[in-house]
Amino acid sequence: MVLKNINPTTTNAWKALQTHYQSLVQERTESLFEKDPDRANKLSITNKHFKIDFSKNKITPETIRLFSALAEECDLKQNIQAVLDGKLVNETERRSVLHMALRNTVANKYKANGQVIHEDILAVKKQMQTFCNAVHEGKHLGYTNKKITTIVNIGIGGSDLGPLMVAEALKPYWIKGITGYFVSNIDEAHLQEVLQKINPEETLFIIASKTFTTQETITNALTARSWFLKYAKDEIHIKQHFIALSTNAKAVSSFGIATENMFQFWDWVGGRYSLWSAIGMSIALIIGYKHFEELLQGAEQMDTHFIETPFEKNIPFLLAAIGIWHRNFFSYEAHCIMPYNQYLQKFPAYLQQADMESNGKTIDRNQQPVNYATAPIIWGDAGTNGQHSFFQLLHQGSSIIPTDFIAAVNTSHHNKDHQEKLLANFFAQTAALMKGKKKEQVEEELRQMNTPPEQIKFLTPYKIFDGDRPTTSILFQDINPTTLGELIALYEHKILVQGLLWNVFSFDQFGVELGKEMCGKILPDLQSLLPTSTYDSSTNSLITYYKQYKN
Ligand code: F6P
Repeated sequence: MVLKNINPTTTNAWKALQTHYQSLVQERTESLFEKDPDRANKLSITNKHFKIDFSKNKITPETIRLFSALAEECDLKQNIQAVLDGKLVNETERRSVLHMALRNTVANKYKANGQVIHEDILAVKKQMQTFCNAVHEGKHLGYTNKKITTIVNIGIGGSDLGPLMVAEALKPYWIKGITGYFVSNIDEAHLQEVLQKINPEETLFIIASKTFTTQETITNALTARSWFLKYAKDEIHIKQHFIALSTNAKAVSSFGIATENMFQFWDWVGGRYSLWSAIGMSIALIIGYKHFEELLQGAEQMDTHFIETPFEKNIPFLLAAIGIWHRNFFSYEAHCIMPYNQYLQKFPAYLQQADMESNGKTIDRNQQPVNYATAPIIWGDAGTNGQHSFFQLLHQGSSIIPTDFIAAVNTSHHNKDHQEKLLANFFAQTAALMKGKKKEQVEEELRQMNTPPEQIKFLTPYKIFDGDRPTTSILFQDINPTTLGELIALYEHKILVQGLLWNVFSFDQFGVELGKEMCGKILPDLQSLLPTSTYDSSTNSLITYYKQYKN
């Protein structure tokens, strides 16, 4: 069957959504609650581990019905099925998109290039488990027979952000006696700050790179290798202290890492979707293989929900639909991610890559420029910290920025006082962003404070909050490996749905290439004694300034 690659704006559902938007745009979300006392209930979903509340967005059940109609017209179901069937949906790279297979427990479910892949996945998992256990049980020792206590993951982008975010999120699960570090930046400061703290005799370096050609990772890996050899003296010891996670066996072996120390994955795993693969080795070493498996199980639970649930009740679909509603009908340009959970502080950075590298595109699947907006700018920070920096703009700025609030009811620290204050802030902010504060209320409050009338007149406009700023709340009972797996898979599927409805190829990233190419040309120029004149005058003068002052 030939799939339709449809410009969503040409569908009847899109036109109906436009009419629906016109009927809702003047309405305040608050007033939708007054009209329908059951609104919160109708527009939220509670499952085994979490509750998600969409009701503080300017939507109604009709919005959801119309987005389901859009899905129908765009063949969304069939497009998702093509992903599950291992079709080459990453068409520009001629690859399947099968990260879901990595957490699947049902044999023979997924095929790549017509071949069942379950056994291959299980074999790498077994290799990972055996290696993790050997490290944790002190069977895999360093070159002076000391236990490995330090894990340093060297990678960037998808080979860093996912594992880093998960390791941070699951800090309470870190194995006693193991410390994990993540080095990504080519700025040597990143690596040196770590090297200063660690003991080469007890350190395992993980070189994580799908391609094994990434400039940052290979540069950092080579520096780490030289540092290690300064102490270990003999290259023979590299095998106890360096492992590689990659799809490129040839490059791994020419780097000097033995094949038995390479953990493989496949081209059908996109970099930003790879934490479930061998790229998750740092996670497994830091929190233990059992917890890594629980992470995968959580993701599988979300996959099952995503695949089996009708769109009207499908959590990733609803998150995606609301994102499109905001981006294409309200023209909101950004989307903020606010985990009210210190351990989830890296979640916004992780989602930046997952979302913006996937759907930050302007050419559709028919090679045509899109005539509608695609991915918003994703950003955010941990709550409550963000409240003391950019929340001014969220409440009173000239841009409206829909925000996802994410928290857990319980934490591993049992201080009720902290936790209740944290969650009170979460609930307060979502309510305040919707409700705002009206002129009459501001004036009344100032009067109560005995403010002189001329001061009331002066101050009132500054103290008004328009409100009507959309939020989605996701409240987990706990953040643990399973629920974190669910959360990540939820956003992965949201991104997939949005990419399919926006009709863009979500699994390539040609937009990162041009800068890399230019860097390749400029690098020799920085070392050359000849004057630089081959670029635009701004770039020439910056390079000249660099050469003038470099030590
Ligand atoms: O520069 C972008 C990118 O290609 C990402 O898509 C990828 O996650 C990252 O670089 C790292 O790539 P690799 O794992 O091949 O080193």
